[in-house]
Amino acid sequence: MRSPMDRSFQLRHWMHSPFLPQLIVSLLSFALRIPFFRVPYLSATRCHLIPKELRELLGWGIRRAMTFQPVLSEAFRTGEALIIYFSQTGNTEKVALAIQQGLSKEGLEVITKKVSEALKEDLYDYDLVCFGSPVIHSLPPRPVMKFILGKGNEYRKRKEVRLPAHKIPGKHALVFVTFSGPRIGVNEALPAGKYLRQFVEHLGFEVEDEWYIVGEFHGWEEGSIRGRLGDIRGRPNAKDLARIEEKTIKLVKSLKHVS
Ligand SMILES: Cc1cc2nc3c(=O)[nH]c(=O)nc-3n(C[C@H](O)[C@H](O)[C@H](O)COP(=O)(O)O)c2cc1C
Repeated sequence: MRSPMDRSFQLRHWMHSPFLPQLIVSLLSFALRIPFFRVPYLSATRCHLIPKELRELLGWGIRRAMTFQPVLSEAFRTGEALIIYFSQTGNTEKVALAIQQGLSKEGLEVITKKVSEALKEDLYDYDLVCFGSPVIHSLPPRPVMKFILGKGNEYRKRKEVRLPAHKIPGKHALVFVTFSGPRIGVNEALPAGKYLRQFVEHLGFEVEDEWYIVGEFHGWEEGSIRGRLGDIRGRPNAKDLARIEEKTIKLVKSLKHVS
């Protein structure tokens, strides 16, 4: 005969086992396939009368459900893209604007923000997040690092960073880095690109590509003329930017076939 103590232990064990959250997520994922349930649920995640924490929890439920049933990603597509970037001397900004142009031409609604203005953005509100930085002394500069650390902590607290990280269907990212490579070429930019990449991957975004774009080393003429990449003055130039726009259009077209 089991004592009440044993029964209470069993109940607590069951509540904390992975079975209960999995059951809830699977029920939610089936319910979200039904428009009657999905539409008010989605409206609630966007309704500012509902406390932020509750909205975040509902959004978290959607992402868990989408991982469980990838077919849901179609229903939760927002058609919106976010470009976040930092630019010290203007090169990365030019690239960000060329990407913005390409995204808009493909019909996406685009928000473009500098890292300092993007702290309040919820990256999960967007189908595509484009994250760009220059290379400063072989790494992303301080404001970019600050953004990554701040947002990383926020998402960890919200339990969005999973162990192991799962790719959330329908959430895509692009990383772009500008660099001058005066000494060893593109290898000077790879650590920065990989650092940006791992951040978005931790959040469950599928990184579609990393773009490394040559940019003039403003303030160091010799580095822009006699470095590994030759004369890079004026880069990214009109031709570089047209190529970026074209590549962005191709990227969006490819995503339309994925999810
Ligand atoms: C202080 C400083 C340090 C830099 N360090 C590097 C470097 O280590 N490696 C590199 O390839 N480029 C380096 N660059 C060049 C920049 O990465 C390049 O010019 C970039 O396109 C600048 O982007 P922005 O104009 O958006 O700031 C440096 C530029 C500055 C101003």
